[in-house]
Amino acid sequence: MNRFFDQFPAFYASPVSAHPNRLHQRYRAIIEPNRAALAGAKVLDIGAHDGRWSFAALHAGAEHVTMIEPRPSAMTMARTRFAEYSVPCNRFTIIQEDVSHLAGWIAGQRFDVVLLLGFLYHTGDHLRLMEAINASDPSIVVIDSEIVDDAEAVIRYRVEQDQDERCAFACGQSVITGTPSAGMIDMMLTHCGFRVFRFNWSRRCDDWQAVGDYQQHLRMTVTGRRERHQLAQTCNGGRQA
Ligand SMILES: C[S@@+](CC[C@H](N)C(=O)[O-])C[C@H]1O[C@@H](n2cnc3c(N)ncnc32)[C@H](O)[C@@H]1O
Repeated sequence: MNRFFDQFPAFYASPVSAHPNRLHQRYRAIIEPNRAALAGAKVLDIGAHDGRWSFAALHAGAEHVTMIEPRPSAMTMARTRFAEYSVPCNRFTIIQEDVSHLAGWIAGQRFDVVLLLGFLYHTGDHLRLMEAINASDPSIVVIDSEIVDDAEAVIRYRVEQDQDERCAFACGQSVITGTPSAGMIDMMLTHCGFRVFRFNWSRRCDDWQAVGDYQQHLRMTVTGRRERHQLAQTCNGGRQA
């Protein structure tokens, strides 16, 4: 079996969801369907942890990745992995910061691809974050998230303790975060002008070891693709008329 992370096994050392089959199956959902968009792309990775998906994006052809991650332990892992696997310094930027402080900054940047992986249930500020991402004008946004089982477009809020690397960052305190439903993720993306493509885990996953949450529909992977072609046609049509 050809598994991307088997060539870079140091990524299996992370304490956060680094089972080899989990990383492999998520690679198939996150990277493989989006190779065309990643080629030559400027990528933003929010909640980057040890840099696993930024690293995979660079290997899939991205030109540059910007990682946002507030935890020093995670950023140290990312720096170590990128040095260990000889990623040139000019291919990545690390921003060690809580993303809730960076919405204005994100909105003022330009990114081709935004990765929101394992993060959308660690914020209480989904709409502000999506608006900032939208303003940075990406062609695609890839979301991999826990979801609540609700047919409506809802966000279920809770108080989350900042206990370890898997949690929302809140300087050791607690923070209100919310888990969206699948319909809410669709709504946020379509409202921002993206067409939604859900990765079909039921049909595409070939080994359910360590990915039972996807099998039970407690988690999903979605790509929002900007409909630039259609918009261009509409504008063109307008001029011709
Ligand atoms: C579940 S891990 C996901 C890691 C990786 N993106 C993935 O999908 O495999 C969530 C990451 O988000 C980070 N995180 C939590 N709160 C954050 C915040 N307010 N701003 C930015 N990153 C945050 C955590 O430190 C952790 O590394």
